[in-house]
Amino acid sequence: MKVAVLGGTGEFGGGLALRLADAGHEVVVGSRDEADAREVADEYADDTGGDVSGATNSGAVDDADVAVLAVPPEYAADTADDALSGFDGIAVTPVVGMSREDGDFVYTPPKEGSYAARIRDSLDDDVPLAGAFHNLAAGKLAATHVDIDGDVAVFGDDEAKDTASELVEDIGTRALDVGGFGVAPQVEALTPLLINVGTKNGIRDAGAKFV
Ligand SMILES: NC(=O)c1ccc[n+]([C@@H]2O[C@H](COP(=O)([O-])OP(=O)(O)OC[C@H]3O[C@@H](n4cnc5c(N)ncnc54)[C@H](OP(=O)(O)O)[C@@H]3O)[C@@H](O)[C@H]2O)c1
Repeated sequence: MKVAVLGGTGEFGGGLALRLADAGHEVVVGSRDEADAREVADEYADDTGGDVSGATNSGAVDDADVAVLAVPPEYAADTADDALSGFDGIAVTPVVGMSREDGDFVYTPPKEGSYAARIRDSLDDDVPLAGAFHNLAAGKLAATHVDIDGDVAVFGDDEAKDTASELVEDIGTRALDVGGFGVAPQVEALTPLLINVGTKNGIRDAGAKFV
């Protein structure tokens, strides 16, 4: 598949881009700055030997089958609105909002109830959206020499879930369908929980496995 990773210059998008390129997908790193995207894409191509190029966020989605919104939560809906207007592929959100309370990480959803709901509102109605990859840590994604050995909760529109699940499986993780947009807050809240599990118990880049 051709996968545009918007914000692919960042920690999380970078790790995901590396894993997807390693798995044989054509990856386009999206950025607000085309030169940055190209520079980073060259590094990822060298690291993986894969097909990786760089473009602006809106250029990255040209002809892409999938666009992953790997940008900070506060900018995700605007990025979707700007870059994905007229997009005819599948959109995927790994976006999570969190803050710190008494030293612990807590989930902080927007007024729409979840970032997935906010992004859904900003996308064209005919763009299928799935939520996926929330419970994978950026550090774990970037360590491409190590198998991830974990599960990924996938929710959203059916068509989008199928495509997102294929990508999840291609990077060596197990895709688990957990429902529609109603469960988005539960899935988004897994990320701060996993960070707390990791920091309190000395587990680096903690992930999830459902048995
Ligand atoms: N980090 C994790 O382990 C992790 C785990 C699960 C989910 N997530 C989710 O993944 C997303 C990305 O996380 P991250 O840690 O990779 O974030 P990040 O490194 O802070 O940012 C990712 C990229 O977003 C772009 N960006 C920054 N400000 C922006 C703005 N105002 N408008 C549009 N784009 C902007 C930047 O790319 P350019 O400057 O090149 O445009 C940046 O490289 C977040 O929504 C987060 O909740 C992260």
